[in-house]
Amino acid sequence: MQKVFTNIGKLYQVREPNSKILRGTMMSDVPFIENAWLSTKDGLIEDFGTMDGFSADGQAEIIDLNGAMVTPTFVDSHTHLVFAADRDEEFVMKIKGMDYQAIAQAGGGIVNSARRLQGTPIEVLLESARQRVTEAIKAGTGALEIKSGYGLTLEAEIKMLQVVAHLKQEFPIPIKATFLGAHAFPHSDHEKYMNTLLQEMLPEVYSQKLASYIDCFCEEGYFTTEQMCQLLEAGEKYELKPKVHVNQFNAIGGVQKAIEFGAISVDHLEVLPDEEITLLKDSDTIPVGLPGCSFFINIPFTPARRIIENGLPLVLASDFNPGSAPSFNMSMINSLATMKMKLLPEEAFNATTYNAAFALELENEVGSITKGKRANFIVSKPNRVLNSIAYNFGVDWIKAVYIGGDLV
Ligand code: NIG
Ligand code: FE
Repeated sequence: MQKVFTNIGKLYQVREPNSKILRGTMMSDVPFIENAWLSTKDGLIEDFGTMDGFSADGQAEIIDLNGAMVTPTFVDSHTHLVFAADRDEEFVMKIKGMDYQAIAQAGGGIVNSARRLQGTPIEVLLESARQRVTEAIKAGTGALEIKSGYGLTLEAEIKMLQVVAHLKQEFPIPIKATFLGAHAFPHSDHEKYMNTLLQEMLPEVYSQKLASYIDCFCEEGYFTTEQMCQLLEAGEKYELKPKVHVNQFNAIGGVQKAIEFGAISVDHLEVLPDEEITLLKDSDTIPVGLPGCSFFINIPFTPARRIIENGLPLVLASDFNPGSAPSFNMSMINSLATMKMKLLPEEAFNATTYNAAFALELENEVGSITKGKRANFIVSKPNRVLNSIAYNFGVDWIKAVYIGGDLV
């Protein structure tokens, strides 16, 4: 069924097919058409243009948007959306003065989430995850990545990824799964857990085709760079491309190794030495910042300006998880990016839409208003402009979300 959306005040992020990722100064431009129309057919963007000279085809359903702004939906390339329970008690510990690592050492953190998830039936996990995806879509997210990593046993990691597989079936947005068995060590015998990861979990993830990517939390007190390399090498054998957690608290060589393994992205990068910026410049690996995490656990923000000023592409994601970033709201990510990372609203928007699609290899499907891409877009409330998304922090600017051309 063809639909034509008319009287769009500004249609943002209009791009040609097969365009490249935006780097450096290119990130400050978001192309738009003023006074536009947009047509969708069979779930895809069919065409668009200006209202001047517009004449409706008799067959199509016409939806008058009365001057509202239209943007593509956000792409959230890094989440831990499947979990058993919030960790709001750790939030209170944090308010009282404990930091993220101290809470983890006191039995909180990732292992706390794993303990709870291991005892939660798959149906219960699925139902809570379903609610979160539904809410994320309503908040404007039109493509998602979801990681495992709160299982930390063969059974529980597979259970998490099966939840993601169900979500993929149920929801009309693209969802990509990442295997993050190497999120934390569940016990003190690290060699034994490495063997579980390499010899039990990876083959099972592969045989059930449960993930596209492999992740590892490469950090002091978590996985060493050598252990990450062992995992990424095994990942190659099981056709899992790397997308990794590196440089959250310390730069321990993970960026260089991830690049050598051809990682799609390196995520976090709160600590980012100049030498590693240089390495990234010579690679196709995409730097991903997670400002919700920096904000929530009060650590430095990824040096987004320095990344852009060095001519690199930048992607920003929510990192939605119960420990370090309990929000999937991508408009809030735009606010934090502007207020805390000093990005222009256009740069933040590009980092959470068009560029973000590349961090999930979905650049031909989502991220912009492009003929042939999915008709996943947001219709604003009246009198909103692109700046409003970041500027009116915490204020809901969204009137409606369309996925595959259908109102959610
Ligand atoms: O990306 N840093 C590692 N993993 C998550 C946090 C996980 C948790 O605290 O539960 C992150 O911030
Ligand atoms: Fe994360």
